[in-house]
Amino acid sequence: MLLPAFCAGQLAAARIVYPQAAVGPLGSDEFHIELHLANRDPNVPWQGTLRFLDGQTLSPAADLTIRVPPAEPADMGTSVAVNLPPSGAQSYYISSPGQLVVGVLVIESETAAPENLVTSFFYRLLTGGEGKDLIAVQPSRSPGLAYSVTLTRRAGLDVGLALVADDAIARAVQGLSIPATDVTLTFTPASGEPLVAQIQLGGGNAPHRPIFPSEVFGAAFPVEVDSGRLDLHASRPIHVTLLAVGTAPLFEDVQIGAAPAESAAWELFRLPEGGSFPEGGANLLAERFWPCSSSALEEVPGGLIGETGGSWTTVTHTQGPSLDIPGDFHVAAAVHAGAGYQGSLMLVGRLPSGTAWYRGVRRLDVGVSETGAVTLTAFNDSPSPVISQEWPVDPPLAGKAVLEIARSGNRLAVAANGRPIGEIQDNFGLLEDRRLWLGLNLPPRSRFALYGLAAMLPPGGQATLRPSPFRETQQIPEQALRIAAGARGLAVGAAVAPNFIADEPDYRRILGGQFNMLTAENVMKWEPIHPEPDRFNFCPADALVEFAQANQMAVRGHTLVWHNQLPSWVSSGNFTKEELMAVMRRHIQTLVGRYRGKVAHWDVVNEALDDSPGNPLRETVFLETIGPEYIDWAFRWAHEADPDAKLFYNDYGIEDLGSKSDRTYQLVRDLKERGVPIHGVGFQFHLRLPWAPTKTRMKENFARFTELGLEVAVTELDVGIPTPGITAEELERQAEIYRNVLEACLETEGCKTFVTWGFTDKHTWIPGFTDGKYDAPLPWDENYQPKPAFFALLETLRSP
Ligand code: XIL
Repeated sequence: MLLPAFCAGQLAAARIVYPQAAVGPLGSDEFHIELHLANRDPNVPWQGTLRFLDGQTLSPAADLTIRVPPAEPADMGTSVAVNLPPSGAQSYYISSPGQLVVGVLVIESETAAPENLVTSFFYRLLTGGEGKDLIAVQPSRSPGLAYSVTLTRRAGLDVGLALVADDAIARAVQGLSIPATDVTLTFTPASGEPLVAQIQLGGGNAPHRPIFPSEVFGAAFPVEVDSGRLDLHASRPIHVTLLAVGTAPLFEDVQIGAAPAESAAWELFRLPEGGSFPEGGANLLAERFWPCSSSALEEVPGGLIGETGGSWTTVTHTQGPSLDIPGDFHVAAAVHAGAGYQGSLMLVGRLPSGTAWYRGVRRLDVGVSETGAVTLTAFNDSPSPVISQEWPVDPPLAGKAVLEIARSGNRLAVAANGRPIGEIQDNFGLLEDRRLWLGLNLPPRSRFALYGLAAMLPPGGQATLRPSPFRETQQIPEQALRIAAGARGLAVGAAVAPNFIADEPDYRRILGGQFNMLTAENVMKWEPIHPEPDRFNFCPADALVEFAQANQMAVRGHTLVWHNQLPSWVSSGNFTKEELMAVMRRHIQTLVGRYRGKVAHWDVVNEALDDSPGNPLRETVFLETIGPEYIDWAFRWAHEADPDAKLFYNDYGIEDLGSKSDRTYQLVRDLKERGVPIHGVGFQFHLRLPWAPTKTRMKENFARFTELGLEVAVTELDVGIPTPGITAEELERQAEIYRNVLEACLETEGCKTFVTWGFTDKHTWIPGFTDGKYDAPLPWDENYQPKPAFFALLETLRSP
């Protein structure tokens, strides 16, 4: 077994897919858990681990017996491997002689998709318990901030919820303190006022807790509830399971919607009378990408959380949606209020025009203070505010609080939880440009939870939503490479970066208009996407994938295993062979699993060959620690995580016939012979004038690879021109090379992919990489004008 044993620090490495809080106190009652697991995936096995963590410290429970039919009951130990074949199912029966008071059942997997695991769970008291049974139903699969649960309660049946703070399990196992999570519970009865209660998990209290509304709300909670709604808003992600206890409770008695509820966020906001939501305005958080704007923010199901260090975090979310506001409108934000929580929603009417943060800026911040007051600050082209207000609220805001800013002509009125708080005049030009970006401003050492964000229109109001630049669909011009390439079954792509998509309209226009494929130039590489052992930075990669989907483009994932742009925690981690294999497997499967079905090609291993003929493989930490078999493992693990993705070996200097190409051939031939799931070879094609391989030799080179049953792909084409002074002849020669490479691909049956390394000379790695000796390697110039190379490509694609 490759996974490290259950020990400090390791659990955090796995993806927890099913924390199931069990309840207590059970005293000396004997109990019995029946757990049924099924794998929904018809192709891929579901592999993971099952464990039961005991008590407040969440250490592995002792004295548990498990029976996995047909085997006999056995000591459960600290963990049990779960191994469900495709479409397979398995039952588990866990029992204990007593002692266990409260526990959490955890199912985790590094490899399997959580949504493919189907679970059901019975919890039976075998002795004692006054003849009552307890069942737990449908725990949330991914932790979230907002839940909406439908409850039924009647004589002989009581319903409740088991809550687990998401990071509790991993942190408790590592011996770390568990931060407080505040939860606001709101029960909305059929008639009458909502009941509100607050509880806390962690922060000195139990990190997981069964709660029954009958206890939390006391006598105010009705004895008979036909179908009541209970909303939960937590300040950090929690898991929720519905519990029913009673005499032979039946599943039919319990109705739930206990899943992180996007819709719960919508229900936060009440429209102004006679008002409406502008299209897309009801849930502005659905537009996402906040972590691309700031690493202090984390998107979680049901909202956004933030935590600041010693300095302010001021984020204008230009990567997200913005509003055009010719008329009156409201903006509302539901936030968490309470000790330790503070922060503001920012409305930014004009972005900074210089390097100083305040230069030209028109901005209004409305937020909550730590004491539960409402704050308002306005800026106009100066570092000190033009307006600064604090309005105390009685009683102070606590738990979930809805802040609302309503514009009516020149008036800006602020309300909290539906009550008017104060108003100001917009005499500082906030709305002069009729455009509004959203943002967040968080003071040092504060926490923040945002459950929802919406734009609303009062009667006669006007506002329209501009989607995030990553969701903008570009027009395809008549002279588009993608049209001509698509007609011949060729994917034509470019390597790109999300920041340019967000910031430069020309960049996204040409990218989406001209190409039907894109490669992540940097954001899927190990260092940027997995900078620390337990931290992934997915946002920029997600943004690229989203742009590709909005524009019907395929995605090439680049690259899983490479010696460059590899963080030092990997390259200098001094891992043993087993450890590095586990690290590599987790990295590969997390990425490939996350983008399963969305990334069509992966460059699984990049540049593994040494340049000198004597040493066949490059000396990397992977080769030195694991041995040459690391290449086999990388492909196998990637294939396990997405059996439909095409997997490539990618390298440079192999475009022409020659020694390095020979060694590539031997490498991939051996992989094929060993049954390693490799589907293609990527030829980088970083060329420089004047030299390029001839078309005949490229085709001959390609042919021996396609004879192995592999695809070949042009993956990183660019053609540098020597500096200084770029002549018209050079641009023509460059165009000819582009044409030759494309023709070699088109004339090779197994070549279906043609990707350039960037597309505009404005953004290319070549001058940086060559010390300024080469430049202008791409088909568009730095002003986004097409060069001869572009016309050569278009013409070649169009000629029969
Ligand atoms: C380059 C990127 O273009 C640069 O932005 C980055 O600084 C370094 O890496 N072969 C590869 C690519 O496989 O990942 C490299 O990309 C270029 C060489």
